[in-house]
Amino acid sequence: MSGEQHIQGQNEVTQGFERFFGKSDGVRVFFAPGRVNLIGEHTDYNGGYVFPAALTFGTYVAVAPRQDGQYRFRSLQFEAQVDTPVDQVEYRKEDDWANYPKGVLAQLLELQRTSGDGQGAYTGADLVYWGNVPNGAGLSSSASIELATALALSTLAGLKVPMLELVKLSQRAENRFVGVNCGIMDQFAVGMGRQGQAMMLKCDTLDYNYVPLDIDGYKLIITNTNKRRGLADSKYNERRSQCEAGLAGIQERLPGLSSLGELSVQEWERVKDAITDPVVANRVEHVVREDDRVLRAKSSLDAGDLATFGELMNQSHESLRDLYEVTGFELDTLYAVAREVDGCIGTRMTGAGFGGCNVSLVREDAVDAFRQTVGERYTARTGLVPSFYVCDIGDGAIEI
Ligand code: GLA
Repeated sequence: MSGEQHIQGQNEVTQGFERFFGKSDGVRVFFAPGRVNLIGEHTDYNGGYVFPAALTFGTYVAVAPRQDGQYRFRSLQFEAQVDTPVDQVEYRKEDDWANYPKGVLAQLLELQRTSGDGQGAYTGADLVYWGNVPNGAGLSSSASIELATALALSTLAGLKVPMLELVKLSQRAENRFVGVNCGIMDQFAVGMGRQGQAMMLKCDTLDYNYVPLDIDGYKLIITNTNKRRGLADSKYNERRSQCEAGLAGIQERLPGLSSLGELSVQEWERVKDAITDPVVANRVEHVVREDDRVLRAKSSLDAGDLATFGELMNQSHESLRDLYEVTGFELDTLYAVAREVDGCIGTRMTGAGFGGCNVSLVREDAVDAFRQTVGERYTARTGLVPSFYVCDIGDGAIEI
């Protein structure tokens, strides 16, 4: 990734650091991107496939060590400063966004304790954050805060923790500290991303490979509904429990099955009558077919067949709307109006849903028309003004 893309972020956090903490020498800057998921939604916590990519925008953090065991978290975008002594890293609702970096710190300390690598490397730090991922838009602003923090604090502690380890501990921070039962996709994409490439990841084994995103003549456009996600966390956790109930039901017929991600479409057709709750059956139906769509999407990309790739994106959205029920009025309106644009060959919600963003595959010469038509029609139907981002695929977390 070119250094130029980072100039603004780097300036924001180093100048902010000087303002808040009165110095800038010895300050190091780390970056972690947001992500977009191309297909494979709500499959990660079911051990299935996902196909995300890292974005070029993300979170920057400027950091300098302290020796008194205090961690001081500041953001240029939120008011309060949150101070935490290293021996009292606890969740506090009023700490809001700072619970993400605090959760990461707690997990780094836990890793230190359990790996027996010696104590004392975590001596305190001042941290200043700034980011350009829209919050709560389904582009993983939280995972990007987590990975930027994990890389910054572990590096400052003199450790070279492998990125995959930072990915896993950031997920644990969100599961155990923040209380969102998310899967591994976001942290993985944010940590492991590579410029110009998407990642095909199987979420139970963490087997993965990079797939060049060859979409010559087309652009990926992210459209933000600009509808804040309300109650998303509790609904997310509810979906996850419904999948667990589905798995338990199917295991009565297939005792060896370890996750829904291991269930083929054919097997599902054979055992689906084991699930009597129609809502649970719909959730499982989505997961099994979405998983299959990811594999087909990857093959179609390999074959340069973007039309099929786009069609699979459309099907994914419809399944998330009708079977998984995580879209809602705004995302469904975006989907409908995007489908009306000539040159938009695929479109779907991305991320957890319940508001947030949609991603569309649009012919290059139709991008302006796409923005105009989608913008006007979406606003006419919802009263909201959407934002558009042309999606460039960047690298994962790094020190700048
Ligand atoms: C959120 C979660 C991910 C994943 C997606 C849905 O982004 O953090 O783990 O479950 O929703 O695919």
